[in-house]
Order: sequence, then structure tokens, then C-alpha cells
Amino acid sequence: MRRFVERPSGTGISPVADVLRFELFDKAKHDRDSFDCGVPALNDYLKTKLGQHSKKSLTRGYVLASHDGKIAGYFTIAASRIMVSVIPDGRGFPARMPLPTTLLGRLAVDLKFRGQGLGGALLVEALRVAVKVSETIASAAIEVDAKDEQSRAFYAKYGFESLTDDRLHMYLPMATARELVQQQSG
Ligand SMILES: CC(C)(COP(=O)(O)OP(=O)(O)OC[C@H]1O[C@@H](n2cnc3c(N)ncnc32)[C@H](O)[C@@H]1OP(=O)(O)O)[C@@H](O)C(=O)NCCC(=O)NCCS
Repeated sequence: MRRFVERPSGTGISPVADVLRFELFDKAKHDRDSFDCGVPALNDYLKTKLGQHSKKSLTRGYVLASHDGKIAGYFTIAASRIMVSVIPDGRGFPARMPLPTTLLGRLAVDLKFRGQGLGGALLVEALRVAVKVSETIASAAIEVDAKDEQSRAFYAKYGFESLTDDRLHMYLPMATARELVQQQSG
């Protein structure tokens, strides 16, 4: 698995982040019990649902974990679709057709690791996975359901824009995600 690297434009991360790795979630390997991001629904999802949902291919979970399996943060990602009509200016897509998207379902950082760049690193890793998959299975945008205005502000920092059906329903064109990932790798 890829070793975590500091974001070039970043605010810097804690030394402990140096020993964290991105890994596909594996309930036999990762310690879910100690994870606490301060949002009960996101803690519970990791602890009680992600294993089952992974097994049934409803979603894939990725964790940023230490060598002993402790989870510092996670995100989930799945195939999805939206109607072009909810994109503010249509972005040149054919009208009234479903648009294949990649849904970033959940993203959370443990309270102990907040404000050290891990949320941004998780988001960029999610974009990297989405961009890579879109080369073999078409996906025109990344979609998120921000849980509140604070999360909306977090995603907006990276260029996500609100869709017209709900201010908290946001998207980032895949082409923009590709540029962002390239910037972060270069
Ligand atoms: C949102 C969350 C993932 C951010 O994690 P984090 O590790 O503290 O974030 P980072 O340190 O990587 O910050 C990345 C950037 O986003 C900004 N940011 C962090 N939280 C933010 C928020 N709630 N609103 C706006 N901006 C935010 C930071 O200032 C930073 O900007 P900078 O690079 O210009 O300094 C974390 O607070 C969290 O897990 N919250 C609870 C779950 C949640 O809301 N998930 C998102 C929607 S499901």
C-alpha cells in the first residue's frame, strides 16, 4: 500500500502521520473499536456496517491506518449516478440523461488526528481512487452528500460545488479531480 506523503501545498502533518498507510478496509485487520470522529453515525457505520456493506459490494472502505491496525481516518466510495438536470449549468453534458458518478459516501478523521492534514489527505486519496477507476469504468464526476454546513465548507475548499436539488449535495467534475490529483502528486 502507498505510504502517506505530506501534501505539497499542505499545512504540514504530525510526525505520527508518517507511519500511517492507506489500505482497503479489512475488518479482520483493522481495529474499529477505538475510532472516534465525534459523529456517532460515522463511528457506528465503521464499527457495525462497513464490514457487511463491503462483503455485499455496496461500497468499498479505505482507511488510513497504523502498522498495528489503528484507524486514524476512513472514507467509503461506490458507483452512483445523478441526473444532468441537477448540475447548475449542465456543464455541456447531454440534458435529461443519467450521469455516471462516483459517490464519496463518508469521510471522517479520528478526533486525536484532527487539523493535521489527514482529512485533506483522505479526500485526495479518494479522488485518486475515483480518477483511476474512471479510466476503465466511465464516471464523469465525484458526488458527496455533505452532512452539514461545516462539511460543505470542507468540500468547497477542494472545489466541490452544490447541485441544484440540495445545497449539501455536491459534485466535482472528474476532469477537475484529475488535475487536483496530478497537482498533489507532482
Ligand atoms: C471534516 C474533517 C474530515 C476534516 O479533517 P481534518 O483532518 O481536521 O482536516 P485537515 O486538517 O486535512 O484540513 C484540510 C483543510 O480543510 C480545512 N477544514 C477542516 N475542517 C473544516 C471544516 N469543518 N470546514 C471548513 N474547512 C475545514 C482545514 O482548515 C484545512 O485547510 P488548509 O489546508 O487551508 O489549512 C474532520 O473534521 C471530520 O472527520 N469531521 C467529522 C466528520 C465529517 O464532518 N465528515 C465530512 C462529511 S461526511
